[in-house]
Amino acid sequence: MTNKKILFSGIQPTGEMHIGNYLGAIRNWVNLQNKGEYNCIYSIVDLHAITIDYDQKQYQNRILDLAATLLACGIDPKKSILFLQSSVKEHAELCWLLNTIIPVSELYRMTQYKDKSSKNEKNINIGLLDYPVLMAADVLLYGTEIVPVGEDQSQHLELTNIILKKFNNKFGEFFKKVNPYITTGAKIMSLNDPEKKMSKSIPGSYISLSDTPDEIRKKVSRAVTDSNFDKEMSHGVKNLFDLLLFFNAKEAHDKFLIQYKDKTIKYSELKSELADVIIKELEPIQYRKQELLKNPKKLKNILDSGAKQAQKIAMKNMIEIKKRMGLY
Ligand code: AMP
Ligand code: TRP
Repeated sequence: MTNKKILFSGIQPTGEMHIGNYLGAIRNWVNLQNKGEYNCIYSIVDLHAITIDYDQKQYQNRILDLAATLLACGIDPKKSILFLQSSVKEHAELCWLLNTIIPVSELYRMTQYKDKSSKNEKNINIGLLDYPVLMAADVLLYGTEIVPVGEDQSQHLELTNIILKKFNNKFGEFFKKVNPYITTGAKIMSLNDPEKKMSKSIPGSYISLSDTPDEIRKKVSRAVTDSNFDKEMSHGVKNLFDLLLFFNAKEAHDKFLIQYKDKTIKYSELKSELADVIIKELEPIQYRKQELLKNPKKLKNILDSGAKQAQKIAMKNMIEIKKRMGLY
């Protein structure tokens, strides 16, 4: 580890990744890694994802699938630390210590908790409430200063800053302020319901990173549009224009925008070009992912070696934290 600032982010192994996850999270992780400005630590946060119902029989496959996806998208274990959260037990340990600092009332006001608990009335477990504290532990364990996340996670990072201030006040300055790095512009909307975010919980809303070219064409061709040129551009049409930009097709974007303004645009043509650029970007990723999945042992080794590197930093910081709290 060099003395560049530490950047940490996590992603849950909750299922198929879609182009919203790719553009809003994974591709930014790769860009941040390749910029070389930060020491990047990326974690598959399996301890977070078990706070909602999940299938334990499929869980290892889910985890390896996500590891293969991240590597195929360009996360490079030579440049970043990539590891499985539960392999570094200090995450759970620090979470417990932080639990004794943060009032429970702060957790009840978290919007994600309110949302998830109303959707999972039969499984409102303590972990679901404690989720943001584990997230704070993830970040603080490494002396992280930069955290790339989607907008929906910024409340959790505010809470991380509240927790670290309380710690520093009580036990002496130790943790540095955490800065969210909100990934700009990347809110991809549902193809079939463009008022809502593209999400794996809305069938038909998303293009999965593993969709075939045929599936991609079909889904794009069904995306909701309209021909109401006299009003503001609708969410559905704007989303398609955004996607052209995000998939690096600025020329096509500008060409269709002129046609849109002239009211001569044919959405079928825009959709066909959009499908082409999505396929072009996803095909090599899919190929690399299939190759990686042929060797699960190698994937596990990559995660294990990442965990060793992460744990080295985590252990050192834990000793310091425990000393300050009178536990060491
Ligand atoms: P989730 O699948 O909701 O757990 O999200 C995993 C990551 O992908 C988070 O960083 C989200 O902010 C990001 N993400 C999820 N859905 C979208 C979307 N529709 N547009 C942009 N980013 C997204
Ligand atoms: N809660 C984050 C999400 O759902 C994932 C996550 C867990 C995370 N720990 C983190 C993100 C630490 C950033 C930093 O997207």
